[in-house]
Amino acid sequence: MKVLITGASRGIGRELALHFAEAGHTVLAVARSKSALEDLASYNKGIEPWGLDINDWEETAGLIMAQHSQIDILIHNAAAFINKPFREMEFQDMQSVYHTNVFTPYFLTQSLLPALKRGSQVLAISSVGGIGGSMKFPGLSVYSSSKGALNILVECLATELDEEGIIVNGLALGSSATEMFKAAFPNLEAASSPKDMAVFIANFALHSPGLVQGKVYSVSSSNP
Ligand SMILES: NC(=O)c1ccc[n+]([C@@H]2O[C@H](COP(=O)([O-])OP(=O)(O)OC[C@H]3O[C@@H](n4cnc5c(N)ncnc54)[C@H](OP(=O)(O)O)[C@@H]3O)[C@@H](O)[C@H]2O)c1
Repeated sequence: MKVLITGASRGIGRELALHFAEAGHTVLAVARSKSALEDLASYNKGIEPWGLDINDWEETAGLIMAQHSQIDILIHNAAAFINKPFREMEFQDMQSVYHTNVFTPYFLTQSLLPALKRGSQVLAISSVGGIGGSMKFPGLSVYSSSKGALNILVECLATELDEEGIIVNGLALGSSATEMFKAAFPNLEAASSPKDMAVFIANFALHSPGLVQGKVYSVSSSNP
């Protein structure tokens, strides 16, 4: 399988890249930090480092499709995060988080459509904070609402792409010990390691096709 993972330079995305590559899949690892991706690629020949800013989705898709005509699994894992009280939040904050977390998964999927064939899968990595009725935390209004939008986009894109045989699902994660978690909850311990979360995500991506379409599942055992 050919697996494109955004946000593979650290955290859950890095562990995902290693897990898929160790299982023998080809991984297109995308993030802005070229040196971190080159370090990652040094661990496994199946990992191709793509140092790109995915917020420029047309350039990202164009460069990747010039070398790869088919993507079997596209994982929208990269995300922007901000922890700021509502009173202090500025338009630019919201614009930049929504750009990475909402606009990019939408338009990067659209730009990559020529490489998404019947049976290809799009998997959005979301957050339990973006599920209606879940516990909410001060400072996370922009981030959590961006993930709420992403959850609905999963349902919408699954409907739009169903006839073409493209599978679209989402996993709304609970806490995992990464830089993002530390920025959100500096004094708390996460319920999972990035590696354990990556194994769950990879197993879902590899074993759910044919069984699940247009669903967003929570992957969480605690709050947060
Ligand atoms: N950790 C948690 O507790 C938790 C909980 C719920 C949901 N999640 C979700 O899980 C996913 C992974 O989170 P994480 O905790 O592993 O995050 P992280 O450690 O902050 O890593 C984020 C990744 O996204 C990449 N990225 C951000 N903006 C980018 C851009 N414009 N272009 C390319 N790459 C970009 C970063 O790489 P560069 O900076 O090198 O570009 C980095 O590799 C995210 O979608 C997050 O919302 C995490």
